[in-house]
Amino acid sequence: MPTTLAFDVYGTLIDTHAVVTGLREIVGNKAEEFSRTWRDKQLEYSFRRGLMRNYENFAVCIRQALDYCCANYQLSLSHEQKNKLLGVYRVLPAFKDVLESLSRLKAADFRIYAFSNGSVDAVEMLLVSAGIRDFFLAIVSADELKTFKPNPDVYRHFLMKSGTVGDNAWLISSNPFDVIGAVSAGMKAAWVRRSREAVFDPWGIEPSITISGLSDLKEKIDEYSNRR
Ligand code: LAC
Repeated sequence: MPTTLAFDVYGTLIDTHAVVTGLREIVGNKAEEFSRTWRDKQLEYSFRRGLMRNYENFAVCIRQALDYCCANYQLSLSHEQKNKLLGVYRVLPAFKDVLESLSRLKAADFRIYAFSNGSVDAVEMLLVSAGIRDFFLAIVSADELKTFKPNPDVYRHFLMKSGTVGDNAWLISSNPFDVIGAVSAGMKAAWVRRSREAVFDPWGIEPSITISGLSDLKEKIDEYSNRR
């Protein structure tokens, strides 16, 4: 039975921090910090909406987090400037190691899915504009359940939609909360530690493997499977 891979999208395949280039024109030397706060706030909003059962899709979390950042940094951006930034966010680029890694995984018969908090339409647009859509059998979105990762139902939904079981399904994600969510729901998980500063939450729930980028994903999964 071929192994199934569920790739997280924002921050794992797609480089959310690439918005810094567009941000510099608008917010100047605060761009890096603004970008990180914007990303953190999006996630916080998705978690809170999940807990409150007050669902709005991830694009709304992104937009409201942008409004929050403008208020927080005391920047009054025009409607056009905000729309421009949101436009950049809809077509962010893939990380450099993505194309080559997906080609190798596909050639090795892994079943590859995109698995995101973003809606199917938003993820479709990102993958198409990054030129990687054809690698994926399908896009599975938390939006189909009107909630967000790391709600365990979302991981179960993925297993059901991909017709697989946890033992044979890997989440691939740079987001520690996502890795912990997947492992808790019975999946295997690879933590993509894209920066050396990234810290894994000390919850006593560990990733099955940790990699610094996607290039050695295949070898690490093979190694893990051979150990068992
Ligand atoms: C996603 C966010 C969590 O793509 O990164 O699901």
